[in-house]
Amino acid sequence: MISIGCDHGGYELKEVIKKSFEEKGIKYRDYGTYSKESVDYPKYALAVAESVANEEGECGIICCGTGIGVSIAANKVPGVRAAAVADVFSARATKQHNNANVLCLGQRVIGEGLALLIVDEWLNTKFEGGRHQTRINLISKMEEKYCK
Ligand code: RB5
Repeated sequence: MISIGCDHGGYELKEVIKKSFEEKGIKYRDYGTYSKESVDYPKYALAVAESVANEEGECGIICCGTGIGVSIAANKVPGVRAAAVADVFSARATKQHNNANVLCLGQRVIGEGLALLIVDEWLNTKFEGGRHQTRINLISKMEEKYCK
């Protein structure tokens, strides 16, 4: 199950991604927001990030205007590795190298077609482990030091 969320700036893109999941039979849970009315993006980033950290969702996707605000917020939750991505190469690399478990997309930055390609690439790429796991372990130690 994929956790998905957005603020008003990413609402339309979230709906596009949901439609594509429905067509492909991919299960998701929508953590809101549910309209284009202005809201505070950290609340929705937190809901998706917590669902991934608690393993309710296997991974998460959050949309806002830029993808940046929600990634900054989601990365405050220990265990979450959120990446703001706007190209297919980075979508692949952030899974292979960073094992990003939350993908953040900017509705005002990329079009629907590119967004769906990015989602597809990210979901279908595997983490490479090895030296990349060592580096992720160092990030986990940073969380242990500062997230108390
Ligand atoms: C909302 O206007 C906008 O600030 C938000 O969607 C996001 O881009 C923040 O980083």
